[in-house]
Amino acid sequence: MNNTLDGKVALVTGGGRGIGAAVALRLAAEGAAVALTFQQDQRRADEIVEQIVASGGRAVAVRVDSADATALVAAVDRVADSFGRLDILVNNAGAFLLGPFGALGVAEFEQTVAVNVRAPFLATQAAVRHMAAGGRIINIGSNVAERAVFPGFSLYAMSKTALIGLTKALGRELGPRAITVNLVNPGPTDTDLNPADGPNASAVNGLTALGHYAEPADIAAAVAFLAGADGRYITGATVNVDGGFTI
Ligand SMILES: NC(=O)c1ccc[n+]([C@@H]2O[C@H](COP(=O)([O-])OP(=O)(O)OC[C@H]3O[C@@H](n4cnc5c(N)ncnc54)[C@H](OP(=O)(O)O)[C@@H]3O)[C@@H](O)[C@H]2O)c1
Repeated sequence: MNNTLDGKVALVTGGGRGIGAAVALRLAAEGAAVALTFQQDQRRADEIVEQIVASGGRAVAVRVDSADATALVAAVDRVADSFGRLDILVNNAGAFLLGPFGALGVAEFEQTVAVNVRAPFLATQAAVRHMAAGGRIINIGSNVAERAVFPGFSLYAMSKTALIGLTKALGRELGPRAITVNLVNPGPTDTDLNPADGPNASAVNGLTALGHYAEPADIAAAVAFLAGADGRYITGATVNVDGGFTI
């Protein structure tokens, strides 16, 4: 098995905390130079960069709101230019706005679609302009695109379901360039967004087959597999890393 990412450059949106941070650390551990974006928490993002650098890797943190289309595209171009290439894009940053259907307004709709749908679309469009054969696009969706168990998820689930179509259509379109496009759907994963000791955690645990939350590193392992050479024949796929939540 040779799944090394030596010499590759990866960009991870929302890589300062949670799943994105675990992905950034894992891709760096496999040998990639990593750029990660964050929105507000510079300290957490800098800590991830410091961890990577302390292990002998190369990393940079870039503040860019994924809802800002112009800034996002400029950041992708800047990363590719400064590292000299771009091989892997992980569209991870997500807006998680929940509420009763009747209470979700235009502002929530626009924020959710901007971050969860438009940003992956535009960042991918920018990234593939820089990618050579062997490039990898990995979208981070959600288990709730496949199974709706709680009320309040209409907007979030709708936005994550859009990634299934984007992933399949781009898998088809970018296949001739040997760029793969895949979707990783995490299940309940222990992050600030969904802590494993939160109020609904025991109910959520019961909905999985394995009976517990994922660690962010569990999601990162699937991303790293898809990102490496061993993932080269997988495209347009949805990989559920959800402990059996959707079976
Ligand atoms: N945790 C779960 O159970 C779970 C389950 C299924 C899917 N997911 C998906 O997995 C992804 C990561 O979730 P997580 O649990 O790791 O979230 P998290 O712990 O809340 O971390 C979110 C990260 O994304 C960044 N971010 C958020 N909004 C952003 C924006 N508009 N622009 C740029 N960066 C932004 C944050 O930056 P700051 O630190 O600067 O705020 C932070 O680095 C999301 O797409 C989420 O929908 C999570």
